[in-house]
Amino acid sequence: MSTREVILGVGGGIAAYKSCDLLRRLQDQGFGVTVIPTPASLNFVGSATWEALSGRPVTTSVWEKVDEVRHVSLGSSSDFIVVAPGTADLIARIAHGRADDLLTNTILASSAPKLIVPAMHPAMWSNPATVANVQILRDRGFFVMEPDHGRLTGKDVGVGRFPETSRILAEFNSIANPVHDLIGRKVLVTAGGTREPLDPIRFIGNRSSGKQGYALARAAARRGADVTLILANSELPDPSGVSCIRVSTAQEMFEKVDQAFDGCDLLVMSAAVADAKPLHVSQSKIKKGALTSIELAANPDIVSTVSSRKKNQVVIAFAAETSLDIEEGKRKLLSKSADILFLNDVAGSEIFGSDQNQGVILISDKAQSVQEINVDRTDKDTLADLLLDQALHRLG
Ligand code: CTP
Repeated sequence: MSTREVILGVGGGIAAYKSCDLLRRLQDQGFGVTVIPTPASLNFVGSATWEALSGRPVTTSVWEKVDEVRHVSLGSSSDFIVVAPGTADLIARIAHGRADDLLTNTILASSAPKLIVPAMHPAMWSNPATVANVQILRDRGFFVMEPDHGRLTGKDVGVGRFPETSRILAEFNSIANPVHDLIGRKVLVTAGGTREPLDPIRFIGNRSSGKQGYALARAAARRGADVTLILANSELPDPSGVSCIRVSTAQEMFEKVDQAFDGCDLLVMSAAVADAKPLHVSQSKIKKGALTSIELAANPDIVSTVSSRKKNQVVIAFAAETSLDIEEGKRKLLSKSADILFLNDVAGSEIFGSDQNQGVILISDKAQSVQEINVDRTDKDTLADLLLDQALHRLG
């Protein structure tokens, strides 16, 4: 096959008509595009339009052209699948492995990278059912874009609008033509929150979900790096293509980072590490009458300890503050001998467990001055790439 093949799956939303432009732009880039609409989407854009634009036959059911076994032949011959628009129903069906039309059968039968471009009413996008379905897909390696904010079909305004074609193409191209600028680099990422046991039942912990570090590990692996992720107490599955070490306490994390640091090029310290642990860990449950105070002992400051002996390594630290105090961020950046620090404002706890982040990237230079880059609310994957771009710049 000379051209690369894309399947454009079209869901039953009004934004289906905007996918006509996406189809054209994909063809302009030299891709062969086969359109698979869901039956519902034909209420918005009919098969004739898709056949005329794509120059290819269009079917929606496995019961058409049965002799061709189209879901298998299309699934195995495609290089990419783009679902645009992805409606709440279509996202739910894909997330749950349903195979009730040609598009969902083909998605199940294909191992190609898949990009979903959601478009729906804001209340449907933020509904916990949709949020959970999107998370299932992301955890399985699907790329799911964030919809745009703006005017919807009715009078409502919010997050749920079909993104501009240019933004979809930029996302598609980063998947179709991945950048491998971290090949040969060893990247060590910590993520999650440590837990410091008090007795067999209780611990001192924090609210970190591990998602930002997880996104960094996945992004670095996608960009060709040899990645080790040291993950503390996260429910996230091991990311594919990454060697994942599970730990629980700050001391365990410290030992793993300490062993691996000298051999790495980049350390990303995104874990939320407990600064202190109970001095005594009881082997049996402490009864409530005895639980009146907890004596603490300091944990090692992992990033400061290893950074103090760095040679050519680049170190990215994080600072979660309840107010965006730039001076405090700068102080931490310099005092921890880090090169880059992402300062985020976690007041109101909207960041923990969310797929979004916002804050300021602080970059130190040799003269101990600090450059600031503001990052408006964005998904954790995009922030991961921004931080890796800065690290790469520093690595040279
Ligand atoms: N960190 C670390 N070891 C610790 C505590 C924190 O390596 N024992 C790292 C974190 O992973 C993060 C950076 O240091 O990259 C900043 O963490 P933060 O909790 O914001 O800073 P602290 O030094 O703990 O300062 P404070 O809690 O007083 O704000």
